[in-house]
Amino acid sequence: MNYIKRLELFILQWCIALTVLAQITVFPWPAHLTEKKEIFILTPNINIKGNGEYADKLAQDLCQDLKNLSFLNIKIPEKRSIEFRLNTQSDFEKEAYSLKIDTEKILLEASSKEGLFYAKETLWQMIKQRKGKLAVCHIKDYPQYQWRGFMLDESRHFFGKEKVKQYLDLMASLKLNVFHWHLTDETGWRIEIKRYPKLTTEGSIGNWHNPQAPAKYYTQKDIREIVAYAADRNIMVIPEFDMPGHATAVCRAYPEVSGGGEGRWKHFTFHPCKEETFRFISNVLDELIDLFPSPYIHIGGDEVHFGNQSWFTDPNIQRFIKENNLINETGLEHYFIRRVVDIVASKGKTAIGWDEIVDAGVSPSKVIVMWWRHDRKYQLLKALEYGYRVIMTPRRPFYGDFIQYASHKIGRQWSGYNTLETVYDYPSSINYLMRGYEKQVMGMQFSMWTERIANEKRLDFMTFPRLIALAEAAWTLETRKECTSFLQRLPIFLQWLDEKGIYYFNPFQPSSTPEPDAPDKEDVLKNG
Ligand code: ACM
Repeated sequence: MNYIKRLELFILQWCIALTVLAQITVFPWPAHLTEKKEIFILTPNINIKGNGEYADKLAQDLCQDLKNLSFLNIKIPEKRSIEFRLNTQSDFEKEAYSLKIDTEKILLEASSKEGLFYAKETLWQMIKQRKGKLAVCHIKDYPQYQWRGFMLDESRHFFGKEKVKQYLDLMASLKLNVFHWHLTDETGWRIEIKRYPKLTTEGSIGNWHNPQAPAKYYTQKDIREIVAYAADRNIMVIPEFDMPGHATAVCRAYPEVSGGGEGRWKHFTFHPCKEETFRFISNVLDELIDLFPSPYIHIGGDEVHFGNQSWFTDPNIQRFIKENNLINETGLEHYFIRRVVDIVASKGKTAIGWDEIVDAGVSPSKVIVMWWRHDRKYQLLKALEYGYRVIMTPRRPFYGDFIQYASHKIGRQWSGYNTLETVYDYPSSINYLMRGYEKQVMGMQFSMWTERIANEKRLDFMTFPRLIALAEAAWTLETRKECTSFLQRLPIFLQWLDEKGIYYFNPFQPSSTPEPDAPDKEDVLKNG
C-alpha cells in the first residue's frame, strides 16, 4: 500500500513539475533564485522542526498554518522534512535568508530571527500559490533597504485594532518592517495618556468629516497588544506625536499649552516657549516611550506656518524671540524643534521629523529626516549634504491619498497622480541625487493620509495594490526590479487579497473595481 502511494507521489511529482517550473511568483522578488526541473509535493504529515527556541516556534507556526490547508491530501508515512535553522555564527546579513527546496528536504536558514521569519514568509507564499507543489529551487535573499515602511493616519479617520492587525499581517507577508502610526493631528488624538485624560475624553472626539463623532482612540492595553502583534511579525511600530503644528486636538483639550492658531486652523500650534509646554511634551513622551520599544519617536515638525499667526502678535512670544536672539518666528520654530529633539535624546531615543527639520540646526546624530516634499528636491539634497539619515516618502509617488488612475475622482492630484508603475519605479528618477550618499538613505515608505478616506473599503482601495509595489521597490535590488515581471506576478497577490475580502483597485480591469463612493461631495477632485 505504502509502495503504491509512493509511486503515485513520484508520478504526480513528474507530471506537475512541467507545469510548475518557471512559475515561482514570490513577493517581493528575491535577490537570487535558481530552480530545477523537479518538484517537492508537500504532505500533511511532513516532519517540521527547528534547531532552537525561535526556530522551533516558527516550525510550530508553520505546522499550525498547514493544518488549515485543504489541498494537502496525499497521506504517506514521511521521511522528508522541513527544517528551520537559525545560526547566529553564519555569515548572513541581518534580514537575509536562504530557502532551499530539495526533493527530500526543505531547509530554511538565517543568522537572525528576522531572516528566518522572512524565509518562512517566502515558503508560505510558495505553498499557497502552488497548493503545496513546490519547485525545487534555491532562494538567497536580502533587502535593498533597511526601512520598508507604511504610514497610517488614524487621526483624520480611525480604523481600529482589527484593521490594523490585518494590515500588519499583509505587511509581514510583503516583508515590510516599519509601521509609522500617525496618531495625533488637528482632527483627533488617538492614544490614551494616563497623566492627561482629557487628551482622550476631549481630544479624541471627532473625525475629518464630523467634529462631533464619538471619541475613538487606542487604550494603552490596545497599543501594547498591537506593538506585540507587530513585533511577532518583525514590524517595528513608530508613533508620531506631531508638533509644534498639527497640535489642535491636544491644545483643544489642554488650552494652557496652546500657541494659538488661525481661522480654520484654530489652536494649531503648541505654545513655542512656555516651559509648561516642554514639561507636558516630556511627560507624554515618557508614556509613549514606555509603550513603544522602538528606538525612534516621530515628532512631526511639518507645516507650522499653517497656523502660527498668533506667534507674530503675542507680546510674550515676541519678547522671547528678541531676548533669545532667535531673529523671527522661523527661528523660534527651530528653537522648539531643537528643544524637543534634545528631550527625546535625553530619554535615549532618536527623533524622526518631516523634512522641515533639516533647517532647525539639529545634530545629524540626533535626528532622522523624512523627505516628503517631492517638489523640493533641494531639501533632500541638503539633508544628505548635512549628513542626515533620510527616509523617502515623497508625496509623488508615495502618498496614498493621491489618485492612482486617470478616471478616479476622489483624492489628490498635483501635476499628475501616483500610479502603480510610478510607485514601483521609484527611486530610479532621483538616483542621481543620492549618488555618493547611498549609506544615508535608510529606505522608503508609503504614507496614507486619510482626510478623504472615511471607511475600510476606501482605505483598501487606495492602499492596494500600490503597497505591494512599494514593498518590492524597497526590498528588491534595483538590478532585479522589473515592472513587467511584477505586473505578470501581481494577479497572484490580488487573488490573496480577494480571499481576505480586501477591496483593491484592479489595474488590469479598472471597470471591475469602481472607485468607492466619496465620503463627502467636498472630497471629489481636490487638488494640492
Ligand atoms: C505632510 O504631509 N504634511 C508631512
